[in-house]
Amino acid sequence: MILRIISLLFGLFLLSTCQETPRAAADRIRWLPGSTFVEDFTQYSGFLSANDTLNGVTAQFHYWLVMAKQSVQNAPLIVWLNGGPGCSSLSGLFVENGPFRPSQDGKQLNENVYAWNRFSNVLYLESPAGVGFNPQTSTTWDDAKVAQANYFALNDFFTVYPDAGKNGVFLSGEGYASVYVTTLGNVIADNISAGKNTINLQGILIGNGLLSIRKHYNAMIEFSYAKGMNFKEDFDNLTATCCGNDSSPMNCDYYSYDFQNSDCGKMAYAFYTKLQKPEVDPYNIYQECYQLAKNQASANEFYGLELAANYNSSDPFDGFPCFAEDAITNYLQRADVQSEIHVLADQQKPIQWRSCSTLTNYGQQQSGDISIALGRLVNSLIWRQNNLRLLLYNGDLDLSSNHVGAQWFVEALNQQALTNGGDWRFSLNDSLYVGSTGGYYKSFDRQITFATIKGAGHFVPLSRPAQILQLVRNFVTNSTIA
Ligand SMILES: *[C@@H]1O[C@H](CO)[C@@H](O)[C@H](O)[C@H]1NC(C)=O
Ligand SMILES: *[C@@H]1O[C@H](CO)[C@@H](O)[C@H](O)[C@H]1NC(C)=O
Ligand SMILES: *[C@@H]1O[C@H](CO)[C@@H](O)[C@H](O)[C@H]1NC(C)=O
Ligand SMILES: *[C@@H]1O[C@H](CO)[C@@H](O)[C@H](O)[C@H]1NC(C)=O
Ligand SMILES: *[C@@H]1O[C@H](CO)[C@@H](O)[C@H](O)[C@H]1NC(C)=O
Ligand SMILES: *[C@@H]1O[C@H](CO)[C@@H](O)[C@H](O)[C@H]1NC(C)=O
Ligand SMILES: *[C@@H]1O[C@H](CO)[C@@H](O)[C@H](O)[C@H]1NC(C)=O
Repeated sequence: MILRIISLLFGLFLLSTCQETPRAAADRIRWLPGSTFVEDFTQYSGFLSANDTLNGVTAQFHYWLVMAKQSVQNAPLIVWLNGGPGCSSLSGLFVENGPFRPSQDGKQLNENVYAWNRFSNVLYLESPAGVGFNPQTSTTWDDAKVAQANYFALNDFFTVYPDAGKNGVFLSGEGYASVYVTTLGNVIADNISAGKNTINLQGILIGNGLLSIRKHYNAMIEFSYAKGMNFKEDFDNLTATCCGNDSSPMNCDYYSYDFQNSDCGKMAYAFYTKLQKPEVDPYNIYQECYQLAKNQASANEFYGLELAANYNSSDPFDGFPCFAEDAITNYLQRADVQSEIHVLADQQKPIQWRSCSTLTNYGQQQSGDISIALGRLVNSLIWRQNNLRLLLYNGDLDLSSNHVGAQWFVEALNQQALTNGGDWRFSLNDSLYVGSTGGYYKSFDRQITFATIKGAGHFVPLSRPAQILQLVRNFVTNSTIA
């Protein structure tokens, strides 16, 4: 009898931990059209409420949750945001670190074996309104409103998936999403401090983030010179005119000169102009995408590439980086896909999903520099008490949010360096190989790590999927990076 009661209790316990909330059950994805592989993980897609009564904002944000492939019970949660502002986080899911790679025509879905859900639950959140599948609202968005709305959406998420973040929550973002995760991190930390939230926040990851426009911009001079995109005489003349007696690159502020009316400004402008060519992909200067001779009307908004689909490109991914935008757009505009992921209201009218949308009058309050917001976060009581950690990682072929400026930025946070900087090893986890250099890294106080990924562009998981998986897993599980 006692045994029976115990087993009954046990059974009930199992039932209650495994059971989905009604909203989760409704949002569960049963099968994805075109999939060519067995999806050995659970996934959900639907809408979260981002209502913010304080600011009179009513909004719904679309989310897609992929659960970890293994040991879901112990898996952390990574929240992923793409930037823009205006770009959809589903690009992260389909083109970067998610388990899918659509074919160019959108008919098939192939597997990305280096998906981050190999070890973590990953929540892809489309933000704010008007982006991706998110319905348009009358709100004029700015950084602060986005932080609030993301916070409310995340709270709503935890009412639907109360266990998804119990092993730790990491906020991650790329490009402009550096602003989203930093401001959201502050809102969460403030609310935890005030006893108003119990989100188990453990860290922040920023990939090729917009950290300081001024620093990235100034660093483009050194970056392009070092990569052979500009030449010595130009460089010497530029520094002689602009830097006075102090030619140390960190102190030479080209950004402060008037481009039209000062000698330095005019020279710097000419220098930058040489970098702005359609065939130079600012997000990955080594990317090769051959352009079609005809029909170049629609430029690729997200990747900085033309809509060229060329399997004959010499890039190592059969041209995927070149036609990724086509692929994801074709796939997500399918009515059967939209129906399966619970975003389609009218079967006759599939939504014109776009990877990036224009947000009119978006207010950028961080003035292109997140050092104040990030400094506030890493010096907060919650950060120090709970040993939170920060990873700033940069693909080293990205001219836009380049690693040189990122390095200047992290040094300027004025945290004590714990290491001198060195390489981290990428291991194929196979006794035959000793591994290779994945990139370089340096650690600082407040559990801050700066790391580069060798040979990666702005979209690191697109160009170095295995390397960034290893780096992120080591960071999230608090293992050594090296
Ligand atoms: C959000 O606000 C809208 C508009 O006021 C309302 O219809 C909806 O029920 C609200 N959602 C939640 C979860 O409160
Ligand atoms: C908690 O978050 C809300 C929403 O962003 C914000 O308005 C509020 O100021 C925060 N509370 C505290 C104590 O910081
Ligand atoms: C660099 O400066 C020298 C001396 O002023 C000038 O003669 C030369 O034309 C300049 N070179 C370029 C590439 O602007
Ligand atoms: C630059 O160096 C020269 C020679 O050492 C000196 O005369 C001049 O004052 C310096 N200029 C500035 C702006 O420091
Ligand atoms: C690739 O090259 C082959 C042989 O030159 C050609 O037949 C084919 O059309 C090319 N494919 C693309 C997508 O350009
Ligand atoms: C490396 O391989 C071993 C044995 O195949 C496996 O147990 C381990 O989980 C792997 N480690 C990583 C980081 O993939
Ligand atoms: C992560 O590891 C570091 C160094 O081993 C340690 O000091 C820190 O407390 C760990 N963080 C957590 C949250 O366990």
